Amino acid sequence: MNQLLSSLLRSLPSFPDDLPAFRTGDAPEDPVDLFVDWLSQAVDAGVLAPHAMTLSTSGPDGVVTARTLILKDIDEHGWVFASRDDGVKARDLGANPFAALTFFWPQLGRQIRVTGPVRQLPQADGEADFLARPEEARAAAFVGHQSEPLGSRETYAAAYADAAARIAENPSLVARTWNTWAVAADSVEFWQASPDRAHVRLRYRLRGRAWERGLLWP
Ligand SMILES: Cc1cc2nc3c(=O)[nH]c(=O)nc-3n(C[C@H](O)[C@H](O)[C@H](O)COP(=O)(O)O)c2cc1C
Repeated sequence: MNQLLSSLLRSLPSFPDDLPAFRTGDAPEDPVDLFVDWLSQAVDAGVLAPHAMTLSTSGPDGVVTARTLILKDIDEHGWVFASRDDGVKARDLGANPFAALTFFWPQLGRQIRVTGPVRQLPQADGEADFLARPEEARAAAFVGHQSEPLGSRETYAAAYADAAARIAENPSLVARTWNTWAVAADSVEFWQASPDRAHVRLRYRLRGRAWERGLLWP
């Protein structure tokens, strides 16, 4: 046992003492409305990157991978994110089109968990997202090889400089590999920490076209 590390880990606080109340009886019928409400409270509370979420996927061999992504929208298709279509997550989703999204906003003691089937959206959506990215982000997406082993930073710098020059020359250039996906949520759980550990959990589950709400034991 690593005594020093273990003591440090046990001493770390997870949440502030002053936490918002979660009156589940007032929760809206649609979980997206509650998400938007909590998101705006997270923005007001100064949570950094409240739109960042953990996307968990699993591949054909059952290996699970998680990474942080930015939520781009919630529309009729679901909870939308953008990425390359030649990386690990795209490969996983091609084999097993189901995913989980997790948001964690420590300043408010809140976690939101979303699960459901995922589908890739039309190429035009990916193009629109790509063109809306800042120039450096477009160049970075153009470089390619994401998550493949990299020999040296110099190799990357040269590839990035090449991509940046191509984008500067032709600002409407689009990386065909850039795409968007949507998680069609069938379960959304809202978790609110409570200082007495009687944490409040409300889960929405899709039943046909309607959302069924229910409390969960903490
Ligand atoms: C805050 C944050 C936001 C990120 N947003 C994105 C994103 O929107 N799209 C993306 O492809 N990668 C994003 N990344 C990088 C991913 O976490 C990940 O490294 C990359 O997508 C490769 O994942 P994969 O190899 O599992 O496919 C973000 C990372 C962080 C820390």
